[in-house]
Formats: sequence, structure tokens, C-alpha cells
Amino acid sequence: MDNWTTSHDRVLAQRNAEGWMFLIEAARDLRTTGAIAPSSKALARLLTDPVQEHGAQPLNVLEAGAGTGSVTRTLIPHLSPSSRLDIVEANTRFASQLRHLVRTHPRLAGESERVRVHHTLVEQLDTNRAYDVIVSGLPFTNFSPTHVETIMNRYLELLHPGGTLAYFAYRGTRYARALTSSRAGARRHRAVEEVLAGYQRQYATGRWTVWGNLPPADVWQLRRPLHAPVPTALDITAGMTR
Ligand SMILES: C[S@@+](CC[C@H](N)C(=O)[O-])C[C@H]1O[C@@H](n2cnc3c(N)ncnc32)[C@H](O)[C@@H]1O
Repeated sequence: MDNWTTSHDRVLAQRNAEGWMFLIEAARDLRTTGAIAPSSKALARLLTDPVQEHGAQPLNVLEAGAGTGSVTRTLIPHLSPSSRLDIVEANTRFASQLRHLVRTHPRLAGESERVRVHHTLVEQLDTNRAYDVIVSGLPFTNFSPTHVETIMNRYLELLHPGGTLAYFAYRGTRYARALTSSRAGARRHRAVEEVLAGYQRQYATGRWTVWGNLPPADVWQLRRPLHAPVPTALDITAGMTR
């Protein structure tokens, strides 16, 4: 057996194991896990575009809701040598899998302290760092509208003026929810989409659809304005009724 075969086999075995891990955690808590499979490479690439666009510049990057690390693995090779990455993950098993990924990633050999894994909720992240890019994998449509506002406002607060937030939303979930859940569940889902639409109207710089993901997803990029103060929940709600 040659080296290529063994390393290729290792990658496949690792992906398989992560797929199973994700499925088990989804069965345990689908609301927080928010999906039954990790993101595809195509989705990971689009989410990490804002980091790649900065080239060799030193950046502070935050990844929220990293799961088994499918986006993290795409992100790490694009970090320039003086860039730093904070990873926040609520699930205990995912957080320890992410620590293992950081310890063993060949691109971080001898400098894994540039990447920190925080096992906490992103809305409770205690940091005095401001970020150039935030990549969010959170399953917003599983949360309440108020929870989503809290997280989005925290993201805007954590971004440097001019910084970029990239997040994704699965396509078609509103219809799936209308068919499979209670009226209250469908109403909550619509309300979350309206909250997100308020932020999109004010801050979006682009939206792309990734068909090569299960399910297909829209990637949104939002930019914190250079000179405007961070919005309050009231500003966003007022924007929604205009
Ligand atoms: C849809 S999965 C995305 C995982 C990974 N980014 C990917 O794309 O494959 C959402 C992840 O967010 C985590 N999560 C959910 N709520 C969170 C919160 N408030 N703070 C941090 N992580 C959270 C879940 O545990 C899960 O790993």
C-alpha cells in the first residue's frame, strides 16, 4: 500500500467518523446542533472567503458554532502567520474534537496557541478582542427571535468597524417547518427570518447560494459600517417596520 492510499483512506475514515459524530449529536439535541451533517467543502469555502480576501494581512478571526470542524479545516490554511483564530462551540464533544484538530493540524505545528477553542455559548464569550472576520455556523432558525437579535448584536459589537460577518441559512426550511411543526413553530421560524432580514437590509454586502450542500444553503456577508454606532435591538426592529 502506498502513502497516498493510506492518507486518502485516513481522510475518508475521519470524515466518516465525523459524519457519525454529528448525526449522534443531532439525535441528542437537534435544536442546538441544527443539522444532521457537517457543512460541505463548497459551503466552507464560501463562508471563509472574507478571510481569504485579506491575503497575508494579520487578522483576528472568530468562528462560532464550529461543530466537528469542517469549516475550521478550510479556515486554518488561510490564516496568515500572525493571524489569530478564536473558535467557540457550545457542545462538549464537539469542543474536545476541535481541540484535537487544533493540536494535530499540520499548519499549526508549534504554534497552536494562535488558535483557541472556547467551550461556551457565543453570546457568553468573554473576550476583549475585536474581530476582522466572524464566521458563524449557528442554526438561527432553531432559536427564538430575541435570541437571534442578542447574537447578531453581539457579533456586530465584536466586529471592528468595517469587519465582516459571514453566516449561512439553509434553503427551504420555512416550508419544511410549516409541514412538520406546530403553528407556533412555523410562526417563530418566520419571525426569526424577519429579524435576520432586518440585519440584511442594513448591513448585507452579498448573498450566494450553495447548491452542493445538504441541504442547499444561502451564505450571507454583512459588514459593520465604518462610522455608525452598533445598533440596538430597537434600531433593528424599527428598520423592519419602515
Ligand atoms: C449547524 S452546526 C454547524 C457546524 C459546523 N460549523 C459546520 O458547518 O459543519 C451548528 C453548531 O453550532 C453550535 N452551537 C449552537 N448554538 C451555539 C451557541 N449559542 N454558541 C456556540 N455554539 C453553538 C452547535 O453545537 C453546532 O456545533
